[in-house]
Amino acid sequence: MMSPRVRKKAYEAHEVAYRRMAREGMTTWNERLGQPAIDPDQLRFLRDAFAQPYVPRSGRVLEVGCGTAPMLRWIVKRGFEGMGVDVSRTAIALGRSLSRDVTLRVGDATRLRVASGSIDVVVDGNCLHCLVDDRDRVAFHREVARVLRPGGCFVLLTMARPIASRRRVGGRPGFVDGNVLYQPVPGARRYRRARRVGGGWHAPPRRFETASALLRMLRAHDLEPRLVRIVKSSAEEPVGHVAAVAVRGGPRR
Ligand SMILES: C[S@@+](CC[C@H](N)C(=O)[O-])C[C@H]1O[C@@H](n2cnc3c(N)ncnc32)[C@H](O)[C@@H]1O
Repeated sequence: MMSPRVRKKAYEAHEVAYRRMAREGMTTWNERLGQPAIDPDQLRFLRDAFAQPYVPRSGRVLEVGCGTAPMLRWIVKRGFEGMGVDVSRTAIALGRSLSRDVTLRVGDATRLRVASGSIDVVVDGNCLHCLVDDRDRVAFHREVARVLRPGGCFVLLTMARPIASRRRVGGRPGFVDGNVLYQPVPGARRYRRARRVGGGWHAPPRRFETASALLRMLRAHDLEPRLVRIVKSSAEEPVGHVAAVAVRGGPRR
């Protein structure tokens, strides 16, 4: 069983969603939204990222928030050894049933059970924006920097400010307060930061920062951004996105 701490952090929304997906025969997070397993923009960015001369050509890749691991499977085809961690045990079970080319484990992005300096590339599988608490976001970056070897790379893929619509984000009902998106989540009333709006309980499942705040956070953890792409929100895309490759600095003190 997931620890109460991890379950609380996931706000159950991900596990609930993956259970429904499994029942309905879906195999990727994006399939729920009727989208390709890997977002075409993110795929383009990944192609660019892995073509950069400072990005390792082989070695160990860790995807944090891998879900059923469509992205990780794409990456291992390029000659990497792939490991994935996700808080949802249903996602991990589903991912394992799809292929044996990757090693998948249930785990928490803020406490990776991975040896320090043992990873060549860490990929944020759109997980950072799931972490709404400041402490969790700092712990996430600290862990990324810890597990990367000096010179290793972090590929960040995350939602970001600005947000075009304050009422409907990603086509789902919800509301944004400060940098946090609240959405109706089963069992939301049990969570510390839950809010009651229009008769329904909402929990905070997403966090949006500006691109400059995201880059500052990378630098504060000795992760130097080398390639950055910022997509502003638009009529079609209510939430902005930031994609970046950051290189881990020299040996830690
Ligand atoms: C937007 S989904 C993307 C999943 C996957 N990368 C993909 O491309 O299909 C974000 C993932 O992060 C996971 N997640 C959320 N909070 C997490 C945490 N604290 N630790 C590890 N994974 C987490 C969710 O379960 C979910 O699978």
